Amino acid sequence: MKGLIPAAGRGARLEPITLAIPKELLMVGDKAIIEYVIDAMKQVSITEITVVVGWRKHAILDYLGSGERLGVKLTYVVQDKRDGLAKAVSAGKHINHDEPFMVVLGDNFFYPKTFLQDILSFHEKKKADATIGVTKVEDPTRHGIIKPGEGNRIIDLIEKPKPSDAPSKLGCIGIYIFNPVIFEAIEKTKPGFNNEYQLTDAIKILVKEKYKVYYREIKGKHIDVGTINDLKNANTFLSQH
Ligand code: G1P
Repeated sequence: MKGLIPAAGRGARLEPITLAIPKELLMVGDKAIIEYVIDAMKQVSITEITVVVGWRKHAILDYLGSGERLGVKLTYVVQDKRDGLAKAVSAGKHINHDEPFMVVLGDNFFYPKTFLQDILSFHEKKKADATIGVTKVEDPTRHGIIKPGEGNRIIDLIEKPKPSDAPSKLGCIGIYIFNPVIFEAIEKTKPGFNNEYQLTDAIKILVKEKYKVYYREIKGKHIDVGTINDLKNANTFLSQH
């Protein structure tokens, strides 16, 4: 399986530092957040990885290079417009069009590193078209929230709902496995929350079209590093484990 790491987001809530340093390069312990994602993919033998970069993101190439230092092969693709996570995923379409692939967001910190094996095994056992990693989240307004159905099927999803509209506590944590059919769904997706093309909405199209879309609850720590406080929390957590 190949991997794809979206790393083209602006990091507005982390400005001014993200005017110069991509949020994926902020340090947790002794390395950049994105390096943890690559390490985790390597643990499940994903070594061919596409990194989606964009405007003000060239430092990611300087940090990761070809991937040789990390024992992986990296390819970079560019998302010219900041028009949403769905478009970041489809920027890698020419590389991931023929087999299932795993997407892990480059600004999310996870612990322990073994969390990807579980979701991968689950996806293969279920012969799913898409499997979405979720966990119980405190704040639905920061996540895509799923409506769980029987047997781990997803029956609906909403991007960043108000607490009163959230269909459950289970939020997407930025780990997805997709069959290439996701690209067709992305093409049909209209701008949604924040006027961006949301991956959540593309997955919702797969659900409506009766594809096999499952969720898998990840046990462990997940921190979406979107604010300085998140970065502090990730560092505190790591220093204690
Ligand atoms: C993205 C997704 C959201 C998901 C989150 C996880 O949001 O759109 O569904 O729950 O990542 O970190 P972002 O954090 O890019 O705003």
